[in-house]
Amino acid sequence: MTDVRKLPRHVAIIMDGNGRWAKAHALKVAMGHRKGVEALRGIIRESSDIGIEALTLYAFSTENWRRSEAEVSALMALLLEYFSSEIDELDEKNVRIRILGDKQGLPAPQREAIEKAEERTKENGGLKLNIAINYGARAEILSAVRTLAQKAKEGEILPEDITEADFSAALYTRDLPDVDLLIRTSGEMRLSNFLLYQCAYAEMVFPKVLWPDFTVADYHAALDSFGARDRRFGGRKE
Ligand code: IPE
Ligand code: IPE
Ligand code: MG
Repeated sequence: MTDVRKLPRHVAIIMDGNGRWAKAHALKVAMGHRKGVEALRGIIRESSDIGIEALTLYAFSTENWRRSEAEVSALMALLLEYFSSEIDELDEKNVRIRILGDKQGLPAPQREAIEKAEERTKENGGLKLNIAINYGARAEILSAVRTLAQKAKEGEILPEDITEADFSAALYTRDLPDVDLLIRTSGEMRLSNFLLYQCAYAEMVFPKVLWPDFTVADYHAALDSFGARDRRFGGRKE
């Protein structure tokens, strides 16, 4: 069992490998995404049970619109299905749901389902579950810059007074701690425009397993690996 004292406060996951999983099983890519959602269920439950403060999942990037129309609509349909089938259990577990990303760029039914889930769970004090949908870190940073520039223009803030805390507060992740542990499955070792600012001091693990095959045991292996890391944040331990 993972040492609870060394748990990360904020875990971020790039759930990658659904396409390769489908291919390996001679199935359509949509089936890979469906299996991916199943894997997700267990990881969310475990995070809530062991007391992780925040879990942020990369579900759809601003670049994923480049995929075929069939795949994008399968993903959008799955999203709707996810919110309607999971919301009761998540709410019961006291999970607070937040969406990170540009909601305006989503189709209306998806946007409405997301907003309903956020509204329904906003007072929950358990796991902070953040789902990055139509998310891109560069778009997020740019939007924070615009917010602060607008405030400066209106005389609310002086440019020289802008702090890192002000900047963090203008991001989608406003009230979340920085990412402590970033997990990307499928063996790829890149960030793909995910939480570029928030991962400044994240510990990273890159399990080879494809996302649909990622188990709670794999999750604990990643948490254990985090627990064994020596985090220095630029300092020196004597
Ligand atoms: C990640 O799996 C899920 C999304 C991007 C929505 P992929 O679909 O990227 O899987 P691979 O990388 O093609 O295997
Ligand atoms: C990142 O994975 C996005 C999600 C997991 C939602 P991708 O599969 O889209 O990233 P690249 O294209 O391999 O960098
Ligand atoms: Mg991928």
